[in-house]
Amino acid sequence: MRVPLLDLKAQYNTIREEIQNTVTDLFESQMFILGAAVKDLEAAVAKYSNVKFAVGVASGTDALLISLMALKTGAGDYVVTTPYTFFATAGSVSRLGATPVFVDIEPDTYNISPERLSECLDHLQPQEKIKAIIPVHLYGQCADMDPILATARRYGVPVIEDAAQAIGSRYKNRVAGSMGDGGCFSFFPSKNLGGFGDGGMVTTDNEELAHMVGILRVHGSEPKYYHKVIGCNSRLDALQAAVLSVKLKYLDSWTEARRKNADYYRRIFREAGLADVIKLPTVREENHHIYNQFVIRVEERDALRDFLTSQEIGTEIYYPVPLHLQECYSTLGYKEGNFPESEKAARETLALPIYAELSTAQQDYIADKITEFYRR
Ligand SMILES: Cc1ncc(COP(=O)(O)O)c(C=O)c1O
Repeated sequence: MRVPLLDLKAQYNTIREEIQNTVTDLFESQMFILGAAVKDLEAAVAKYSNVKFAVGVASGTDALLISLMALKTGAGDYVVTTPYTFFATAGSVSRLGATPVFVDIEPDTYNISPERLSECLDHLQPQEKIKAIIPVHLYGQCADMDPILATARRYGVPVIEDAAQAIGSRYKNRVAGSMGDGGCFSFFPSKNLGGFGDGGMVTTDNEELAHMVGILRVHGSEPKYYHKVIGCNSRLDALQAAVLSVKLKYLDSWTEARRKNADYYRRIFREAGLADVIKLPTVREENHHIYNQFVIRVEERDALRDFLTSQEIGTEIYYPVPLHLQECYSTLGYKEGNFPESEKAARETLALPIYAELSTAQQDYIADKITEFYRR
């Protein structure tokens, strides 16, 4: 048996005709830049994420970058975030000449620790240079937003949620991307709502922020060819928007299938007596996890991964090097030991296949092979 980490063809097979009809319509219209396709998706995502405004951009990375630009983030500013995330979270800060300041994660959810965040802001000088806080809803589970928002309010600092992996995820019945001042989504193909290429979106209830993001994605122009601010070219492709509008209708059923797969893993790993060797994802009571990734924690992670690869089971390490230890950030002055929980997670975590079309037979095969590895 072969089990890939993700099987996008299996999903495409279920919606092929609808997608092809939509794409053909768009080709016939020859309206490739913004227009109705993008507007419709923006309205649908705003509704889905329970916000007033959603603005399509070229990627999740640009959603972060442009949100920070809209907050006038620049040289000398700080943006506080987690080191245990995809590079884009901090990379977008650095691209604006600002400095990412890292705060360690909670060991059970892998999300930024509200206590450490509060301590960080208490001590970070000068405090007026703190431009934003970016909590990341890692793997599809929301960060502990209430204490994060309380800290942010204490210092008057905006919160930009990195919800790239978390569309539809909920915290105390509030939707990812609706809790901070802005939310940033990615439509990278591996996300629960993935396009046929890159894409992203910024969500917000703040009309001014939405307006600025809308201008910044078209070179800061308003009206056309008149530039009050300097932006970039970062529109969401109409073609991607058309595909995503079709896929959004199925998102909840795909996410439900991922959640069922997660439950099934829990059951078979327990039945296989693996509970002692595998730490399964912790889901906080207040959270609705959308399982963009199903990440286990194990000892001998690299050896297990090599073995599973040899058995044609796809896995991935998200992420092997926490951002404070990345070569490009050596100038920030961090060293090993600064963020022990992030460093430990980077050594021990492993993502297993969780996509909606995964069969129970494939999951049984994975459990068998993990059992074989630990009984060897
Ligand atoms: C947490 C996080 N932030 C930001 C991004 C960037 O999104 P994109 O790849 O669409 O630029 C990703 C995408 O992988 C991500 O996982």
